[in-house]
Amino acid sequence: MGLYDAFRYDGKRALVVGGATGMGAATAQLLVEAGAEIVVMDYAEVTLPGVKAIQVNLSEKDSIDAALDACGGTVDALFSCAGVADGTPGIERVNFIGHRYMIDRMLEREMLPRGSAIGMISSAAGLGWESNLELLQELLAIRDWDAAVQWVVDHGMADYFHMKQAVCAYVATEAFPMLQRGIRINAICPGPTDTPLARANAEQWFGLATDYRADTGTDVSTPLEQAYPLVFLASQAAAAINGQTVVSDAGYLTSGLVGSYPNATPTAQFLFGRLT
Ligand SMILES: NC(=O)c1ccc[n+]([C@@H]2O[C@H](COP(=O)([O-])OP(=O)(O)OC[C@H]3O[C@@H](n4cnc5c(N)ncnc54)[C@H](O)[C@@H]3O)[C@@H](O)[C@H]2O)c1
Repeated sequence: MGLYDAFRYDGKRALVVGGATGMGAATAQLLVEAGAEIVVMDYAEVTLPGVKAIQVNLSEKDSIDAALDACGGTVDALFSCAGVADGTPGIERVNFIGHRYMIDRMLEREMLPRGSAIGMISSAAGLGWESNLELLQELLAIRDWDAAVQWVVDHGMADYFHMKQAVCAYVATEAFPMLQRGIRINAICPGPTDTPLARANAEQWFGLATDYRADTGTDVSTPLEQAYPLVFLASQAAAAINGQTVVSDAGYLTSGLVGSYPNATPTAQFLFGRLT
């Protein structure tokens, strides 16, 4: 064992939820090279060779239960990657309630042993969670599937922005109770990334930070560039990191917050919930 092995996944079993395409697929691909045994769950067909593929529909709790039956065993690293865009029916389940339900069931079934870790994909869209925390805590307290869906619908929050805020608030809130069980939980909050989902919503999703990319001579992220920090966060190398929502947007929003890139300031203040 060398010191650098803490970044690897040899002998570990990883579950990637939403691993058919985009960042989830890149995560699964990276995990293969990192030495993990991999299970991929997705609604879509999984084409990556050498992994156990299980179909799941995150908008249906029975489907999640059946997928966990099919997975069985324990999981050392869970990657909750699946997500859909505004306009998709059931967005509140696919982007938050379904992921949380799966984690709750995995805890109940003792599928996440001490030393395991969870890596979620939130979004830059979710960064304003702190200023909305009181409201989000009401949702976080509702563990029942139907009641949580109803609460989200009743509060007019069944949209991308609020469900990504819920993911961020959930990650921060679970840091302590999870760690008591020996589990860490973190998320990345990607900026624009070249995936099928972003391409399908190109005007809105790639529209963010166009000027910043031009002024820095950079491009939108590749799925692999987002998979790297996600895989790191769930590795032993990140043992000291817990409850964090790591912004992986190449510095656009922080440059806006401090004013070193003033074009980004209004967007950054809005997304961080700092507009008064
Ligand atoms: N691409 C971006 O610019 C960007 C930016 C910030 C955050 N994100 C987030 O990144 C995550 C990954 O998205 P991506 O951009 O790689 O897109 P993607 O569409 O390539 O990946 C999403 C995956 O989720 C799966 N999925 C969708 N609905 C499902 C359901 N009901 N049940 C099970 N699986 C389902 C899809 O089949 C797909 O494989 C999402 O949570 C998204 O919100 C994306």
